[in-house]
Amino acid sequence: MKILVTYDMFREGFTELESKYEVTLPEGRDFTYEEVFEMIPEYDVLCSMLDFPVNKELIDHAPKLRLIANYGVGYNNIDVAYALEKGLTVANTPDPVTAPTANLALGLMLDTARRITECDRKLRTLGKDMKIGMLENLGMPVTGQTLGIIGMGRIGKALAKRANALGMDVIYHKRRQLCIDDETKLNVTYVSKEELLAKADFVSLNAPYTPDTYHIIGEEELKLMKPSAILINTARGPLVDEHALVKALREGTIHGAGLDVFEFGDYPLPELLEMDNVVLTPHIGTQTTETRIIMARTVCNNVIGFLEGDRPVSRVLRP
Ligand code: GLV
Repeated sequence: MKILVTYDMFREGFTELESKYEVTLPEGRDFTYEEVFEMIPEYDVLCSMLDFPVNKELIDHAPKLRLIANYGVGYNNIDVAYALEKGLTVANTPDPVTAPTANLALGLMLDTARRITECDRKLRTLGKDMKIGMLENLGMPVTGQTLGIIGMGRIGKALAKRANALGMDVIYHKRRQLCIDDETKLNVTYVSKEELLAKADFVSLNAPYTPDTYHIIGEEELKLMKPSAILINTARGPLVDEHALVKALREGTIHGAGLDVFEFGDYPLPELLEMDNVVLTPHIGTQTTETRIIMARTVCNNVIGFLEGDRPVSRVLRP
């Protein structure tokens, strides 16, 4: 069995896999698409990650391939429909992603509302010229406010628990409403997308990126939001029409945004960098040492479980 890993990773995450199989891992950098394309015909398993495209062309060039084990909960980098049609198994790593991503969403909410990064930046850059006083740097309350979560999967639920602990009201929207038991346990109320946008003080996107969720927040949706509302995106950039967001922030259609992901790749539109009411992080939702290692171990568990049947595999069942 030959296993190809496309990304550079803490080696300890792959110890068990390396003790059992022939594993090719890059060092100090990720493999390029061209390198993987060249190597893939020899491999049985491909361990990919979120920004590595596993497309038809690559799958068609991989006669031995049986498993695509993605690093991450999201799998929009993979042509899942085609992979499944070709009889391949696709796996992902939802468990270790949940808590750190919900924590970052909460961090962006608090930061944007209470202007933490903005104040830090002003203290550093303006020093004693920064205006300080009882009526300066006023923020938004968080406790007692309404959080609207779009996409109530694992991360949405984890965020709802955190928001409840802060004394927030939580409303949510997703394709299928949760059962009453889950809603009661989580203390959340199902509403239409329109009602959510109109009522929420914070709107958090926690849905996967699919053709249905592309630009789930665009000009129309931003207009439905309160002028005091804050948009949080820790899911995938293309869920938000970033040009429309820039316009809405400029014109005061909404108050602020906390973004960990951007529509056009690794960096935000330059206009966002100029705005004090926006907090930006470069896709760090799972960026802790522990999470990196646990996610790698989860990838290995998926691979070993698939090859040996001795442990559960987190299978992606549909695109
Ligand atoms: C992170 O973005 C993930 O998909 O796990």
